[in-house]
Amino acid sequence: MLSTNPKAKLAVLVSGTGSNLEAIIKATQNSKYPAYVGVVISDQKEALALKKATAHQIPAVFVNPKLYDSREAYDQMLASMLKEYKVDLVILAGFMRVLSPIFVQAFPKKILNIHPALLPKYPGLHAVKEALESGDSHTGCTVHFVDEGVDTGPIIAQTQVSIKKGDTQDSLHARIKEQEYTLYPKAISDISHSLLIQKLKA
Ligand code: GAR
Repeated sequence: MLSTNPKAKLAVLVSGTGSNLEAIIKATQNSKYPAYVGVVISDQKEALALKKATAHQIPAVFVNPKLYDSREAYDQMLASMLKEYKVDLVILAGFMRVLSPIFVQAFPKKILNIHPALLPKYPGLHAVKEALESGDSHTGCTVHFVDEGVDTGPIIAQTQVSIKKGDTQDSLHARIKEQEYTLYPKAISDISHSLLIQKLKA
């Protein structure tokens, strides 16, 4: 259900630095952008991303996994919270937890993720390291819908990044992130736009 705001309301889930979050917030500052960040949620109390959200007057919430008996209990709580916030899309931006089916089924085709590799290559936690060690000439980043697998959902958009001689994990990841900052806001814009059109037609 769309909120009364004519833009799509985003929940951004983060665990760390939040540089993708910053890129998304920056994009939403353009009045023509079809979405806004309604809430930022982290599973890490000290996530820099929470401070960045607060600096932009966006509600920033730490939801402590240690307070829940199971992954499912945590995800159920998150899903209920996001339903209360009436979010239209859930945006994973460096959220380092695998979401259980309970959460994925609560937001079918409404959860997006960014991954630092050209999926289906190198899913999982070590995508940059694996690409670097592979001998491949390039890697990249992927925006995809989240399904019940790990980095397996339908691909929305990708950008290639060359692997250079002498690259380290840090140098390569930094160049991938530079591309993420353009790719993710654009994909979110496209999906938000079609969501708003669908709702208008309904
Ligand atoms: C990004 O590179 C994103 O692709 C990656 O975490 C980084 C978050 O950086 N996500 C994953 O690896 C998910 N499997 P940020 O906190 O600075 O946006």
